[in-house]
Order: sequence, then C-alpha cells, then structure tokens
Amino acid sequence: MATDRIETLLDEQRRFTPSDAFKAQAHVRDTSPHERARRDPEGYWADWAKQLEWSRPWDRVLEWKPPHAKWFLGGKLNASVNCLDRHVRAGKSGRVALIWEGEPPGEVRRITYGELHADVNKFANVLKGLGVKRGDRVAIYLPMVPEVAVAMLACARIGAVHTVVFGGFSAESLRDRINDAGAKILVTADGGYRRGAIVPLKQNVDEALADTPSIEHVVVLRRTGQTVTFKTGRDLWWTELMARAPKDCPPEAMDAEDPLYILYTSGTTGKPKGILHTTGGYLTHVYATTKWVFDLKESDVFWCTADVGWVTGHSYVVYGPLALGVTEVMYEGAPDHPGKDRFWSICAKHGVTVFYTAPTAIRAFMKWGTELPARHDLSRLRLLGTVGEPINPEAWMWYQEHIGGKRCPIVDTWWQTETGGIMITPLPGVTATKPGSTTVPFPGIEAVLLDGEGKEVKVGGGYLAIPKPWPGMLRTIWGDDERYQQVYWSKWKNKYFPGDGAKRDEDGYFWILGRVDDVLNVAGHRIGTMEVESALVDHSAVAEAAVVGRAHDLKGQALAAFVTLKEGRQGTDALREELKNHVSKKIGALAKPDDILFSADLPKTRSGKIMRRLLKDIAEGRALGDTTTLADPAVVAKLRDQYESQET
Ligand code: PRX
Repeated sequence: MATDRIETLLDEQRRFTPSDAFKAQAHVRDTSPHERARRDPEGYWADWAKQLEWSRPWDRVLEWKPPHAKWFLGGKLNASVNCLDRHVRAGKSGRVALIWEGEPPGEVRRITYGELHADVNKFANVLKGLGVKRGDRVAIYLPMVPEVAVAMLACARIGAVHTVVFGGFSAESLRDRINDAGAKILVTADGGYRRGAIVPLKQNVDEALADTPSIEHVVVLRRTGQTVTFKTGRDLWWTELMARAPKDCPPEAMDAEDPLYILYTSGTTGKPKGILHTTGGYLTHVYATTKWVFDLKESDVFWCTADVGWVTGHSYVVYGPLALGVTEVMYEGAPDHPGKDRFWSICAKHGVTVFYTAPTAIRAFMKWGTELPARHDLSRLRLLGTVGEPINPEAWMWYQEHIGGKRCPIVDTWWQTETGGIMITPLPGVTATKPGSTTVPFPGIEAVLLDGEGKEVKVGGGYLAIPKPWPGMLRTIWGDDERYQQVYWSKWKNKYFPGDGAKRDEDGYFWILGRVDDVLNVAGHRIGTMEVESALVDHSAVAEAAVVGRAHDLKGQALAAFVTLKEGRQGTDALREELKNHVSKKIGALAKPDDILFSADLPKTRSGKIMRRLLKDIAEGRALGDTTTLADPAVVAKLRDQYESQET
C-alpha cells in the first residue's frame, strides 16, 4: 500500500510537456478551446458540426430531456457523403484512404477515396437490390478487410443500421446479436486469417443462421478461397453481386437523430447491450476528436490498430479518419505474425506518423523486447495513442522511449462504446501528460468524480460521472430503453454513470482505475462476469459458477472461474479444458477463462451474494496457498467466515 502511494506521488509529479517543435505544428496550441467550450458548449459543438456537410441545416443544437438527448435537431446529412463524396468533390479522389495489409506477408492494397466511393455506391445498390430499406438492420461479420468499411458506409448511404459483430465471436454470440437487432441481411466472408490459421467465419454463420428468422440473405466475400457450404437462394457471392450492381446510389438524407449503428457490448447481466448511436452528433464528435486528439493533417499516415468489431474501429478506423479525409493503415491480422515485429515493419513500410493502440499490446511488445522495434525505422512517428484500459506507468514509459523515440507525445484516451468518441484525453500540443493519467476532458466534455453519496470529489478517489450530454453519446439500448435508464442514469439524477472508478489529483487530472461493476476488462475487451457464468452453468457438469478478474501481466485482467460441480462429477484436468472450450464455443475465444478452480461451494454472504473479493484474493494467491483444497467444504466455510465481517 505504502509503495503504491509513493509510486502514485512520483507519477503525479512526472510530467511530459509537448516539445516546441510539436506545438508549432499542432492544430491546438493553447487552452483557449477549453475556455471557449466552457463558455458556450452548444456554440462550440455547432462550430464542429459546421465542418461537416449537411443537406439541411439544423434548427436547434441540443434538446436535453434527461436522460434523452437530441443533437442538431432538424438537420439532415449522410455519413457516407461526409466520409467520401465531399472529398471526391473536393478533388481528392486520387488520395489514398486505406493502405491495407493482409496478414499473409506481401499482400498490400492501396484504396483511394475515389475507389472507396465507387465501391460503397455499388454495395449500397447491392443492399437495395436485396430489399434493404432505410431503418433496416444489416449484420456484418467480416475480418479486417477494406470491404468491412465498404459494407458499413454502404449501410449509412441508404440509411440502413449496421451492427458489426467482431469476427472472434462464436456462432451463438452472432446469432443472439442478429436476433436482438432483427437483422435482415448478413455480410460475411468465407473465412479470415489469424496467426496464419483460418477463422471459419462462414461455418460459424451457417451454425448461427439455423435460428435467425429475420435473415433473408447472406452476402459472402471470398477472402481465403476455402470451400464453404452455400445455401441456394439465401447465400450470394459479394463479387457476383458487385459485378451486376449499378454504379451510382444517391445518398439518403438522414435526420441527425436517425440511427447509424448498433454495437453490442457487455454489461452486468448475461445479455449484451445493443448500444445505439445516431448520425449527426456521433459524426461531429468523432470528427472533432480525430482531428484534435490525433492532430491529423494531410501529410499524416494514421494507424489505429483496433478491429472494426469494436467501437474503436467504428470511430477511429472508419467514421473519424474518413470524415477527416486522411490516409490510414488497416491491418488484417495479429501483431505477432509472422514475426513479433509485424507492427513495426508496417509502421516503417508505410511511414505511419500517428499510431493508436491498446495497453495490452504495449505490454506484449515490452515482453518481446526492445530489439524488435529497434530493427525498424520508426522515425516518421510523431504521436502515439492508447485506449481501452488503464496503462501502467511502466508501459507508458516504455512506449514513449522505445516506440516514440522520446519525441512523440502520448495521448491516453478514455472513452467507451457508449460515449461514441473520446472523452478524457490530452490535446497533444497543449496538455502536459503524466504516465498513467488520461489527463483532462476534451473541450466541450465535462467529467466529475462523485463519492458514494453523489457529492463531488475535487481531489481523491470516486466514481466517474459525466454531468452534461455530449454529441456522440448513446441514445438508448436497442429495444430496451428501460435498461438504458436503469444502467446509466439511475445512480445519480441526470448524470451519466460509466461504471468506472477514478481518482483526481491536485492538477485536476483523471486517473482511471477500472470498472466498479461486474464487468471485466480482459486485454482491452469488455467481458461481463455474468455472461461467462451463464456459459459455464450451461455445461451439464456445472452446478454453479462465479467469475472474477485477477491481475495479469499482459492482459491487465485474466478470467478466473470458480466452479462447483454437480453430484458425481469430478474436477479433472480434462473437464477443466472442456469447460474452457465450452465458454469459447458459447461466447468466443476472448472469453475463455484462464483458470478454472473447482470448489466445493461458492462462498456467499448471509444474504446470498457471492463473496467476489474473497474469490479474487484466492485467484491472486492472497487468501489460500493451495487452491486444490477448495474441494474441501470446510476450507471454503472457514474462508467465508474470515471474510464475512469485511464484506458489505
Ligand atoms: O473501463 C474503461 C476502459 O474500457 C471501458 C470501455 O470499454 P469499451 O466500451 O469496450 O471501449 C473500449 C475502447 C473505447 C471503460 O469503461 N477504458 C477505456 N479507455 C481507457 C480505459 N481505462 C483506462 N484508461 C483508458 N484510456
């Protein structure tokens, strides 16, 4: 505890100010935007919105009827027009939008804004030809290939709502998301490459579609060329449809508040939440943050390493950078394939200038050693970013030295699927950074810390809260507005509750400490403990299960599952493997528990609540030396008694 405190004090004192050279070229060089936004937040956001193209101007910037906000009321625009047409019209059709690298080395495609525009028009016509209308939902289950951006923007063009499902999710997860969204069309591929192996996307689709009554057609992109089964009438090849599709598809004029997409994320119950984002406010927020946080100019090559299956990919691979008209890298595969220096070879080869990744990746790079980045010319890098989980100061320092060559500012950006865009972040030409701190809210965004009673904490620890609506905020949970109100707005009156704990230092800087609910962050991915528990009890041998997060060097947190078995079942190594694979099959490999601990009982309080703190202490080796003794009910009972007085 004492050393933690000393480290914290050191971190709070360690500061990095932007160099004069960086400052001189930065979009923002002083704090005047913060002041301007504080004085007149609506005027400030309206100024950003004016940088987009609208087919009808808005009548009113904001309507706030807590907990429902509407931005740019009456305004009409189209997201695909903002990401493509206006750049083409401005004479930038020859500018490269995507530099795509496939995982198999040597495969590179450079796609210009003009080419992307043409493909999006054609694919929008494909969707129309399949009967997709404004407001219909289209599910997308694709690898990281340019076609994923084409499919998303084509939906946006015709006013269809996309729901992208990460390719690492299982057939069952895909099925549940399709059914919840009521998707009419599914866009997928024969497979995708991951660490040299093939992810059988189409096979998962066939399994999922056994029980998805809303799906009428499946569009299949040929990526790996492997043989797949095809259901006549339902399944259609991407290339064949594109070859027949008309070239021009006039964009729909969408209302600012029309849905743009639904993206599922884990919550505290077993059922993922369909986060709904709308068009005008979302696009304004991601455009503004892409421009100022990443300080992007025409000369930059931006690379956000996130998969499009997550919100970071939606906001900072597709909508933000393309709305801004920049050139960006998109990479299909794993960071360690074929070598552990793949990212650095990509940065060097394509002259990446701004690089955005997750702490879990940085920790892996640290483990792999400094020699790998040192082999490549990373001198064009000028700004680094991180997102998804708290970054430990040691990883921050390593990133700054070995990737950024001590010259690149680091933007540690806090935000969530629900917030749509970055919320708390340095502005790289302005904010002095401290390793491990996300610093201060983006201009136009407010954030506070509240204690258990809802009173503001100026310096110290508390719950993070967002007291004012912001343009990119989620509008509701798809099909469940009551859950929206309950999850995010019932803790305090009219303040958004993100579910994170944080502390604030004397300078007003935020230090995000992590989730305070039953949501875990494993390698930057959000996983609900309940989802994993439900998957475990679905197995015929399991009577009860409790999942907790334990500290993990690389992933930040790892999943430890405590399992009680049904009468007559033995806790063997083989069963342990079987249970891990069962979770992988139910949810996806990302939710596979790292540890399965067989326990005679799950320790519970008198009111029946599982004592998660005790389980965490056991998983992290603090409460019990030898975890095999959990099989003895007396051991569990003793531990429970020891902890009971401390549990709330
Ligand atoms: O706990 C916070 C953590 O990730 C959560 C949001 O996860 P998700 O919706 O999947 O979005 C991830 C990418 C935006 C948050 O509630 N988180 C995100 N960024 C940071 C972070 N924790 C600490 N520092 C960050 N920069």
